[in-house]
Amino acid sequence: SQKIAYRSAIVHSVADPKDVGLDDSYQYFEDGVLVVENGHIVDIGSADDVLARQPKHITVKVFKDKIITSGFIDTHIHYPQTGMIASYGEQLLDWLENYTFPEELRFKNPIYAHQVATLFLDELASNGTTTALVFGTVHKESVNVFFEEAEKRNLRMIAGKVLMDRNAPDYLTDTPQSGYEESKELIERWHNKGRLHYAVTPRFAPTSTNEQLATVGQLLKEYPDVFMHTHLSENKKEIEWVLDLFPERESYLDVYDHYGLLHKRSVFAHGIHLSDCECQRLADTDSSIAFCPTSNLFLGSGLFNLPKMEKFNINVGMGTDVGAGTSFSLLQTMSEAYKIMQLQQEKLHPVKSLFLATLGGAKALHLDDKIGNLAIGKEADFVVLDLHATQLMRFRMKQTTNLEEKLFVLMSLGDDRTVSQTYIYGKKAYDIHGETPKAQIA
Ligand code: GUN
Ligand code: FE
Repeated sequence: SQKIAYRSAIVHSVADPKDVGLDDSYQYFEDGVLVVENGHIVDIGSADDVLARQPKHITVKVFKDKIITSGFIDTHIHYPQTGMIASYGEQLLDWLENYTFPEELRFKNPIYAHQVATLFLDELASNGTTTALVFGTVHKESVNVFFEEAEKRNLRMIAGKVLMDRNAPDYLTDTPQSGYEESKELIERWHNKGRLHYAVTPRFAPTSTNEQLATVGQLLKEYPDVFMHTHLSENKKEIEWVLDLFPERESYLDVYDHYGLLHKRSVFAHGIHLSDCECQRLADTDSSIAFCPTSNLFLGSGLFNLPKMEKFNINVGMGTDVGAGTSFSLLQTMSEAYKIMQLQQEKLHPVKSLFLATLGGAKALHLDDKIGNLAIGKEADFVVLDLHATQLMRFRMKQTTNLEEKLFVLMSLGDDRTVSQTYIYGKKAYDIHGETPKAQIA
């Protein structure tokens, strides 16, 4: 396809700040150009340099008062919980029983599932999220309709059917045998099809029997490059319950470890209350944690200890965890992450937040050879952010003197109003001034 150049301020992460220091972890071009061809990035740099080496008559699209960055990566979210976001009053276990399970039952109907998947993917696009690791429900059709819709949009997406064979209503449980067979069927159909990947998805230890967890280990042996996606150490009562249910295991993480669920494509949501031993095991197995600040605050789960994860060298990405999370916006999520660090007398630098929401997420998913920043050769998933999206932001931006301050204001005040355009695989997938999304919920 035709080469297109996008001219704007550009910022992107190029390395983990904890390895190279903040200053060397990003590139910034105040007047930059990004060149895209065949869905990939083929050039990036300052406008003068790039335009000098590109063909004279290249099409140039110019953005004013905008900043281009890599598409956001959400490393933990539940698409079926879109319709129950902001459900009042409970902490994790009661919240699941009172709100989550009844809503997830509705996904027995593939028509409803398809409507929600459509609305969900529209919402990701309008928030600048270009890749996500996504929970379905126990129904295999919930995953088929999700992947069909993601495929139409050319998205790099990871999803899986929930495995849950106990401690949930009968109408929402599978069996070790049916869960195994359906997961296998979905892996065969979707894993590595175009930009799609499958994640074997046991909900969390309390809702699977030993027998079912063993089938997860079996699937990972048969398909070593599929993802494994679950929850870990989110809530104190949850942890006590796990230790009661699995008295023979040393810790919450040890339950998963025992069945071979820790591998380089394992992503555990939350990990708020982890011992040093558990952290060491996560690091040794190259597993990843999804940090979900809005959810942790909304459910009163606790304060995520990012410095401890860094000390153990554990991969960390950002997750919204909608519907326990209260926003699809990674900008809002970064803002809440900053406040969680403040409550622990720690600072979260905006350059590190940018890393966590982009390249850090890609590294946590081990997809950083394809996505996560705007390096030459990467897939062209990027966002155009509006520094003047609101009157307040325009006013506040006037008083900023450098990029780092601008980024901090962007992530403290920004949300979907800040996302001007979202590009997926080199094509515009969303424009704030375009048609309104077409999802219709009966
Ligand atoms: N633990 C088990 N299931 C869930 C869920 O749906 N959301 C969250 N936040 N935690 C869980
Ligand atoms: Fe979750």
